[in-house]
Amino acid sequence: MRVGRLTLKMYVYSILAVHAAIFVLVASIMSFRSAQLPERTFLSQHLAADLWHRRDDPDGLQAQVARGMAFSVPVTVYDTEGRLIASTATPPLPMLSQAQVRRLEAVGHVDESAGFFAHPIREGGRFVGVGIANLNPPFLARHAPRMAIPFILVLAASLAFARHIARPLQQLANLAKRFGRGEMTARARFSRKDEIGDLGRAFDDMADRVTGLMAAQQELLVNVSHELLTPLSRIQVAVDLLRDGEAKQAKDLVSEIAQDLAEIERLLDDVMTVARLDLSRVPDGATVMPLRRESTSIDELIQAAVSRFRAQCQTHQIVAEVSPVLPAASADRVLMRRVVENLLDNARKYSDAGTTIRIRASGTKNGVRVAVVDDGTGIDAADLKKVFTPFFRSDKSRSRSTGGVGLGLALARRVVEAHGGTIEIASTPGAGTTVTLDLPAQAANA
Ligand SMILES: Nc1ncnc2c1ncn2[C@@H]1O[C@H](COP(=O)(O)OP(=O)(O)OP(=O)(O)O)[C@@H](O)[C@H]1O
Ligand SMILES: [Mg+2]
Repeated sequence: MRVGRLTLKMYVYSILAVHAAIFVLVASIMSFRSAQLPERTFLSQHLAADLWHRRDDPDGLQAQVARGMAFSVPVTVYDTEGRLIASTATPPLPMLSQAQVRRLEAVGHVDESAGFFAHPIREGGRFVGVGIANLNPPFLARHAPRMAIPFILVLAASLAFARHIARPLQQLANLAKRFGRGEMTARARFSRKDEIGDLGRAFDDMADRVTGLMAAQQELLVNVSHELLTPLSRIQVAVDLLRDGEAKQAKDLVSEIAQDLAEIERLLDDVMTVARLDLSRVPDGATVMPLRRESTSIDELIQAAVSRFRAQCQTHQIVAEVSPVLPAASADRVLMRRVVENLLDNARKYSDAGTTIRIRASGTKNGVRVAVVDDGTGIDAADLKKVFTPFFRSDKSRSRSTGGVGLGLALARRVVEAHGGTIEIASTPGAGTTVTLDLPAQAANA
């Protein structure tokens, strides 16, 4: 799994924040627990005397040292000869010099350097030992007030970090609202490289696609209207002629008008099928065009299409190469027939008379593969990715005036995808084209 930059940042940041919090907490507790100077002095005297008195009882002494180590005042006890008796400090605090020992005996205490404190231990009024203590509070307790600084820094960093995450999310939410209100140019254009940057780019991609789809819908409408214009104006001319009493001239147009009407019918049928199949992919439109699926022999489908092709087209050879064992497909026969006929029609229209068209069918791991191969004009690489767009026709095919409006492949793709299959086209300009469709086999229990 890829660990994104934001995840890493959040991870490192949370570790730092936890450490800072623990640090501040420990310092606060220690400063709270560390006694004031007079109490620390008293404690150290008490502890030193206690240790001295247990010097002949090793177990008791050890227990007292262990207890003394829990105090925040480290103490070391020596006898007057400088022999170490016990210490709760590691390493033991250093013994006084001889001059200091004499002064201690005379004055009662020695506290020359900061935090350092020595006092005499007496037994029956006799000076027998020296208790030495470090009265400085522990490091963390000493610096507790300054601990506020990392705490404030952590607070400030948390705020900055929270804004670093929340601000672009808010921006995206606003963008989504603007886009939803119809502002089609709204884009995030985030340059950051982390997960939020990815989210922004995903939003932009989605917005580009939606805008593209909407433009395609508008184009479809314009194209359909455009295709209807020529036949309608021909009909208009015929009507005008009839009105002017030119029945003979009008009659000459009738066969063309009949052909136009047949083409309009086909056009509208194709457009409606394309639109319905598109709608069936929208959640609320799922029931718009249920496929009329039935167990279909692909072999029979191909043989029927080949016979029709031979009956209608004498200019081209057609060869069917169908594998003898093909699984059946659960398919809408009418729509699948239209797909195959469209592909054969294309192969005929975009190849020279006398050439051979091949239709192949074979079994695959998951179903059936059908390929239509021609030795025709081929398709330029730049056009290849547009051929499934409704109304796209390459300039080359327009100039061949083969007829057709550019809906055949758009329809084929929708039909095949509605069946859970895929369609692909490969072409070499000047050499020929192969359209391959893969259909899933009928489920065993279907
Ligand atoms: N076998 C092919 N050889 C060369 N070009 C092809 C072939 N099949 C499709 N094309 C190109 O792709 C375009 C789109 O094909 P499509 O079948 O969608 O439309 P059409 O054949 O022009 O019209 P319609 O199918 O609506 O009668 C064609 O106009 C042509 O430029
Ligand atoms: Mg076609």
